[in-house]
Amino acid sequence: MEYCKLGKTDISVSSIGVGTMLWLPNRNLSKDDLFKTYQKCIDNGLDFFDTAEIYGNGTSEKLLGEFMKKDGRKVKIATKFAPPSRMNPLTQKRKNVSKEDPAALMEALDGSLERLGVDCIDLYQVHMPPRNGRISEYMDVMAQAVKEGKVRAVGVCNFSKVQIEEAYKALKNHNIPLATVMAGYNVIRRYPESNGIMDVCRELGITLIPYAPLAEGTLTGKYRSGDRKVPLQYIVTSYFGHLDLTKERNDNVPFIRRLFSKPREVDVKRMEPLMAVMDEIAKCHDKSIAQVALNWLLSADDIHILPIPGIKSIKQADDNAGVAGWRLSKEERIRINHIEEQTR
Ligand SMILES: NC(=O)c1ccc[n+]([C@@H]2O[C@H](COP(=O)([O-])OP(=O)(O)OC[C@H]3O[C@@H](n4cnc5c(N)ncnc54)[C@H](OP(=O)(O)O)[C@@H]3O)[C@@H](O)[C@H]2O)c1
Repeated sequence: MEYCKLGKTDISVSSIGVGTMLWLPNRNLSKDDLFKTYQKCIDNGLDFFDTAEIYGNGTSEKLLGEFMKKDGRKVKIATKFAPPSRMNPLTQKRKNVSKEDPAALMEALDGSLERLGVDCIDLYQVHMPPRNGRISEYMDVMAQAVKEGKVRAVGVCNFSKVQIEEAYKALKNHNIPLATVMAGYNVIRRYPESNGIMDVCRELGITLIPYAPLAEGTLTGKYRSGDRKVPLQYIVTSYFGHLDLTKERNDNVPFIRRLFSKPREVDVKRMEPLMAVMDEIAKCHDKSIAQVALNWLLSADDIHILPIPGIKSIKQADDNAGVAGWRLSKEERIRINHIEEQTR
């Protein structure tokens, strides 16, 4: 495994993380199997786990807490505070403070610490831009949490360039670096390259954590044969992303065209030329398509990128650990980028 630092902090984590958004035991995914997956991740050197208070309304955090205690080995945890937000209309209820008050962050943090069974969170992130716009005040509360020893590093998710700059400045007043920015970024979702997110991360020395680095599984090639259907839930979420209600994409496609077209990521035929090229490159390295998709992120120039693929099985824990220790060549990246641009 390779290890890296979170932004300008001295917190060292594996260069591939583990997304636990779907660590919600059900009929097809038992708690026991998830524990085995957790242990396999650590065996393979993957020691950075991403969760959030809203994943299964605390279930993912509770499960991680239970696993950490049972396994006993030290891991690094990233979790997230959910402010009132346009992206998530179902705002979390708070007991002691109004949910609109930035002090709600401290109450949420205490809840996360309790569910995780730890005294300190390695990376605490604001999950979405607060609808009340009080970014600086949330960062003041974050700084307070760092001073109290409850948080080691601070991050934000789904923020625009301007919002990231505001958070950075507010933390700087407390001599705390903004360590990470989380944004949707993968081979077929490349908006951070043009909407200023990657520029600001480069300029300020912030680690970019791409979520859905495998485009929720599309970039593993699993839908290519037609045997597996794209899940309805993914079709719906992709369609809403495709409508670009949050103006993240900024790629000048008229709204009316978006409304009546299919999102590319769920259009298996349209994706095939890209999949074929990634497959060919994967074979040259004796790797899987998923490993190529994740390595494409690791091998980006001049910027630190830390992907956190969702891992649900021992096999995926092995496969995703195999993304470290090698890099795609510049020519291979250019080839992937070129064919991706042609499928737009
Ligand atoms: N901050 C935010 O707003 C935000 C939003 C979304 C996600 N996230 C974070 O990002 C993490 C990752 O995103 P995600 O889970 O939505 O999407 P993802 O990482 O793009 O895709 C994960 C899915 O890909 C499949 N997979 C993973 N590794 C594989 C491998 N090596 N080979 C084949 N298939 C593989 C698994 O699906 P199957 O087992 O079903 O095939 C898995 O559930 C989340 O867990 C969460 O921590 C954050």
